[in-house]
Amino acid sequence: MTEQQHNPEPLKIAILGSGSGSNCQSIIDAIADGTLNATIVCVISDVDDAKILDRARAHNIPCHYISGAPFKTKIDGEAETAYIDCIQASGADVIVLAGFMRIIKPRLLETFPQRIINIHPSLLPAFPGLHAWKQALDYGVKVAGCTVHFVDAGTDTGPIIVQKSVPVLDDDTTESLHARIQVQEHIAYPEALRRIASGAIALKGRTVVHPA
Ligand code: GRF
Repeated sequence: MTEQQHNPEPLKIAILGSGSGSNCQSIIDAIADGTLNATIVCVISDVDDAKILDRARAHNIPCHYISGAPFKTKIDGEAETAYIDCIQASGADVIVLAGFMRIIKPRLLETFPQRIINIHPSLLPAFPGLHAWKQALDYGVKVAGCTVHFVDAGTDTGPIIVQKSVPVLDDDTTESLHARIQVQEHIAYPEALRRIASGAIALKGRTVVHPA
């Protein structure tokens, strides 16, 4: 990614999710309250009855169920083509993964270079992969958090845009820690998108910098 210029046009966002869509909702809310200059051009889910699709419908956002079959954990083959076609037709500038439970393969990544971002419920590079809040609890860390990052070919390895931390309390359960992290996720995703929408973001090596 090269340095981008200030862009007054609303950022066009495609959101991909498999579940409840609370992060999608935080982006919808930030746009609605005027703190994020963006428009959600489509929401796509690989789960036909996912709540994220209901949230999109409730706000008249174009939404699509696109199956990932026959694969269970990745977007590949014909499904990958369908995802690429749908995202391109939407005209999205940025693809936001919000609880999307499938691996993104190279063809999709190469079609949208430096334009796919993800949120992960840990302070990366600690605890990549599934159930990061449980990994944090099992390890015994005292500080946990979330990370918004660009997606690359690795698992949760791309350049970091925003991180937020939360304390881990002695009596935390997986549920209570995940809930505390999610409160920060709902701040972090709109913040990362605000930075991208303003154009004040560049890559220096693998470090995301925010030129004035
Ligand atoms: C979040 O905890 C996010 O960090 C992880 O999946 C969860 C999605 O939650 N990648 P929601 O569907 O946005 O509520």
